[in-house]
Amino acid sequence: MIIKGNGFILRHVILKDAEAIFKCLQDKETKKNFMSTPKNIEEVRRDIKSQIKQYNVDKTKRKSDSFVIDINGEIAGEIGIHDIVWGHKAISSSWVAKSFRGKGLGTAVHKLFVRYAFKNYKLKRLQGNVRTFNKASARMLEKSGYKLEGILRKNKLKNGKFRDDMVLAIVR
Ligand SMILES: CC(C)(COP(=O)(O)OP(=O)(O)OC[C@H]1O[C@@H](n2cnc3c(N)ncnc32)[C@H](O)[C@@H]1OP(=O)(O)O)[C@@H](O)C(=O)NCCC(=O)NCCS
Repeated sequence: MIIKGNGFILRHVILKDAEAIFKCLQDKETKKNFMSTPKNIEEVRRDIKSQIKQYNVDKTKRKSDSFVIDINGEIAGEIGIHDIVWGHKAISSSWVAKSFRGKGLGTAVHKLFVRYAFKNYKLKRLQGNVRTFNKASARMLEKSGYKLEGILRKNKLKNGKFRDDMVLAIVR
């Protein structure tokens, strides 16, 4: 499936994307901001295979849906939702490759994806969880229509430290 944006497309991930995705995810910021990132290409391939299985599940029963951001055949990032409850809610997640950041791409992709997610999954609520130090992600979500609902204090344990998470959401 393809969603057309201005200067990019969102397309379903394929196994051939594994190497490019793995390379992008070696970036320090991404490793810092996510709880975990794949340790090798095999892990990326496993994730892609499990996503491809989800594409083939009826959308009312699908648990996740994710797209790569493709700019002229180059992978510029990913966006998706998980924990989908059809007709109700889901949690979003995204990253933009380092060389494409700071140009409004994350926000443009998010705005387009939010429309797709609400329509396709008949959502009432779309949530994003962001570490409190991740200002770029919080700003991107706010610009895409999410509102800050609160802080989950000491919500995650990573590298021996408890981390606070911002919860942002769009409800309709
Ligand atoms: C978060 C991320 C997806 C944003 O993508 P992007 O394409 O750079 O986002 P945009 O260019 O649309 O910028 C969004 C806003 O964040 C702001 N921003 C960027 N870096 C920032 C920083 N370090 N501190 C504060 N604001 C920042 C931008 O200025 C912009 O706001 P503005 O238009 O008001 O100036 C990208 O930084 C990323 O992939 N980070 C690593 C992975 C990650 O953190 N994913 C999210 C996990 S919750």
